[in-house]
Amino acid sequence: MSDPLVLHVLNGPNLNLLGVREPHIYGRETLADVQALCEAAAGQGKEGGATVVFRQSNREGELIDWVQEARTEASALVINPAAYGHTSIALLDALKALTIPVVECHLSNPAAREDFRRHSYVSLAATGVIAGFGAQSYELAVKAALRLARERASQPPR
Ligand code: DQA
Repeated sequence: MSDPLVLHVLNGPNLNLLGVREPHIYGRETLADVQALCEAAAGQGKEGGATVVFRQSNREGELIDWVQEARTEASALVINPAAYGHTSIALLDALKALTIPVVECHLSNPAAREDFRRHSYVSLAATGVIAGFGAQSYELAVKAALRLARERASQPPR
């Protein structure tokens, strides 16, 4: 059997406060709830399931280190860059070095909010974007990322 896929899920600043931070926008689920949702969506621990590496940081440099790590250690990446998506060219540059599928994920729909949230540097390097479904955005993002990773794994090497 082929090696299990490894999915990295990265979370940017303030997402450690999920559940208490502006719950009318971001929902009542905590980050631990979101992690459990991702692990279930990936089928972690089940036959044919993927392993999820789930992380959060309030520091841009740490997120960049983790994106670089995903380059060699992950089959796909899901990232909720939070506010760094709107500001960080350094995060974009790190993501551009990846060749694995990258799914950008947001709980809210930034396109329907303040003007400054309408631009995402991360989107320039993302294979696709899922936003606006609350915690369910992560579930959809995990499934999309793993589907892309499986498609790639089944393609003959070029
Ligand atoms: C967010 C949207 C961002 O604009 C915001 O800065 C966040 C969370 C979301 O998941 O909806 O921190 O990424």
